[in-house]
Amino acid sequence: MSVVSVINYKGGVGKTTLTANIGAELAARGRKVLLVDLDPQASLTFSFYRPQDFTEEKLTILQWFQGFINQRAEPLHRFVLTPREINAVVQPRGGQVHLLPAHLGLIEVDLDLAAMLGGARFLKQHPRYLPVHRALADALLDQEFAGYDSVLIDCAPNFNMVTRTAIVASDHVIVPARPDYLSTLGIDYLRARLTGLIEEYNSIAPDQINPELIGVVYTMVQWASNGQWLTSQRDSVTNTTEIEIPVFRQSMRDNKTAVTAAGASSLPIVLAPPGNTTIETLRYELQQLTSEFLARTRI
Ligand SMILES: Nc1ncnc2c1ncn2[C@@H]1O[C@H](COP(=O)(O)OP(=O)(O)O)[C@@H](O)[C@H]1O
Ligand SMILES: [Mg+2]
Repeated sequence: MSVVSVINYKGGVGKTTLTANIGAELAARGRKVLLVDLDPQASLTFSFYRPQDFTEEKLTILQWFQGFINQRAEPLHRFVLTPREINAVVQPRGGQVHLLPAHLGLIEVDLDLAAMLGGARFLKQHPRYLPVHRALADALLDQEFAGYDSVLIDCAPNFNMVTRTAIVASDHVIVPARPDYLSTLGIDYLRARLTGLIEEYNSIAPDQINPELIGVVYTMVQWASNGQWLTSQRDSVTNTTEIEIPVFRQSMRDNKTAVTAAGASSLPIVLAPPGNTTIETLRYELQQLTSEFLARTRI
């Protein structure tokens, strides 16, 4: 089982779109996929459930974290849902998509977990530093999760405690980013924070973690009529090359029309019904991205 976090400080960069589509494409290729929504905005959850169908009695990862905080954690697998529409498409192909849904209340969980460590600084001397950071990693060790091939975690746009539990649980990290100057500056900072967390954790943990940043995925790329990226976007990418961060060869183009059209079908773009050229181009890019994702995450 490989665990991958999809992370960026910034919102609106395509984290959720990539998580849903890579997950859906892996399942369409016969893999058993668990999607974990750790963003209080719950966009990933609402990619598979209409808000009116997602009623209050549905348990989410919020209740699981609350159990953990109250030291009465229930097994995490009890919170796993099987979204209907997508599984109707992928199950005949031998695949499966399960979801651990998010909840707006996750914002409070960040504060409660930090409080367990005596404040917002995540002091590594604190006796609970390891169990709190390992909350998700330990829960995923349960035999019930052994059947999954891939776990994809859609992280909130921050580096708070819930996000930190995702990183500690991960083998790999991917960073969706828009190709603009400020975003690429942010990537270097994000990498520094990742390295900082890994070093801090490994300095006290008996087990060592090594979540690897396998690459930046450029999203919402604008192509000029000459068949190249817009010059301004190309320059930002040159920037990433200079700071030596791996970059996916395949990017995802900017196409609101295609994204909206696919959204109406309540299936991720890769599984949406056949459409016009714009949808097909975006679908092709996401399929290529998934192939590259597989190649890069092979352990
Ligand atoms: N390739 C794309 N072209 C145009 N719009 C996109 C594309 N990918 C995502 N979007 C839209 O941009 C918004 C932000 O994407 P999302 O995946 O939710 O980002 P994040 O999870 O990083 O906040 C959403 O409305 C989404 O539908
Ligand atoms: Mg999102």
